[in-house]
Amino acid sequence: MKILVVGGGGREHAIAAALARNTATTVFSVMAKRNPGIEGIAKNVLLVNETEVPRIVTYAKENGVDFAFIGPESPLEAGIVDALEGEGIPCVGPRKAAARIETDKAFCRDMMERNAIEGCPKYRVFHSAPDAVDFITGYDGDLVVKPIGLTGGKGVRIMGEQVDRAGAIEYVKFLNGEAVLEERLIGEEFTLQAFVDGTHLIPMPLVQDHKRAFEGDIGLNTGGMGSYSMPDHMLPFVTKSDYNKAIEIMKAAIAAMERMGQPYKGILYGQFMNTAQGPKVIEFNARFGDPEAMNVLSLLTSDLSEVVHHIAEGTLLPSHVSFDTQATVCKYLVPEGYPESPGAGEVITVGPHSNALLYYANVEKAGENLVTQTSRTLAFVGIGETLDQAEQAAEQAASEVKGCVRHRRDIGTNALLEKRIAHMKELR
Ligand code: AMP
Ligand code: GLY
Repeated sequence: MKILVVGGGGREHAIAAALARNTATTVFSVMAKRNPGIEGIAKNVLLVNETEVPRIVTYAKENGVDFAFIGPESPLEAGIVDALEGEGIPCVGPRKAAARIETDKAFCRDMMERNAIEGCPKYRVFHSAPDAVDFITGYDGDLVVKPIGLTGGKGVRIMGEQVDRAGAIEYVKFLNGEAVLEERLIGEEFTLQAFVDGTHLIPMPLVQDHKRAFEGDIGLNTGGMGSYSMPDHMLPFVTKSDYNKAIEIMKAAIAAMERMGQPYKGILYGQFMNTAQGPKVIEFNARFGDPEAMNVLSLLTSDLSEVVHHIAEGTLLPSHVSFDTQATVCKYLVPEGYPESPGAGEVITVGPHSNALLYYANVEKAGENLVTQTSRTLAFVGIGETLDQAEQAAEQAASEVKGCVRHRRDIGTNALLEKRIAHMKELR
């Protein structure tokens, strides 16, 4: 089976590695920058921007690929699935219209509201700066300001946390009023990713990501500094009832998309805030999370190539998907100064890391050296019987990297986990 992986980050390295565990699978790659990990796996690489749809389609046809796995959101928005499927190449990833669940935050909220899907925060969509300013001025409480389109996870401004009321007003003006304003949710975030074949949804282990740049959850939002998952595939601040509710919400979204004539297939990523009233949807993404893909794919014991096949055929069953019952901790190394002013072009050296998996991201090979770029550099995933063991494996590998990069030492530690649990207890 020939499978084309589109994208060149840590997430796509994890996808390519999982596909290649099936020795009958040949991986092809399209990426903007040469990811050394993917390059080591792929039979052939096309170096172009992931949104250059016609070139990618030609490449896929020339190489006779059977399926494509779309990693990031930008090619989904550019209609890559419509184009590939138009040429008879089935994809893991939704068509452009269904990808609006991620690419258009107004569409997503309206879809939830019109279909009476639980877990939708109070929200309003604006297309005018004066209207949005009036709303913020008159609103009693904290709001979250979200640009309607894609921002790489860095476009949201939270009142009471990142901006005050005046800052929120300034920000909607900057957005020319094209924004979704919604109530600020308080709780603990978790990620629920699932394989979806249009109708059936098969969940993966819960993961918690860490968006803030620095230890103790301070600093700017990033694409995600690291993440962890527990041996039982749950999180200690998410009850069974919260979990079931989150699954029901995801299933209801899939059913709604089908009814709307835009069946959803690929990976559905639900980002939830577990509040005092249960899980609420922060957003849906139309793809794996990065870093969360590295947690779950490192545990996947079933054959991802087979799963791809079943997603394409619409025949996905729970028996096709299984995961090791271990803990994972993923830690990203990022350039000093990331995210505001990342130091690109710095030489780094990876040390001993035999106890952790290494996934490359935005880093290039120059001879024997690895050289940082502007985004997240590389990640280590530790796996263990306990969270502690997984954390130590990831931390040890991460701390052995030499050069102008840093990572969050607190991710996956018991101290941070206890803080999450205490926060949830306080809310309930
Ligand atoms: P997003 O770009 O939608 O992933 O949002 C980025 C981050 O903003 C999320 O990870 C949350 O931490 C935060 N956020 C988004 N929406 C809300 C909300 N309604 N209430 C509180 N925090 C939010
Ligand atoms: N880790 C967050 C995301 O991939 O959107």
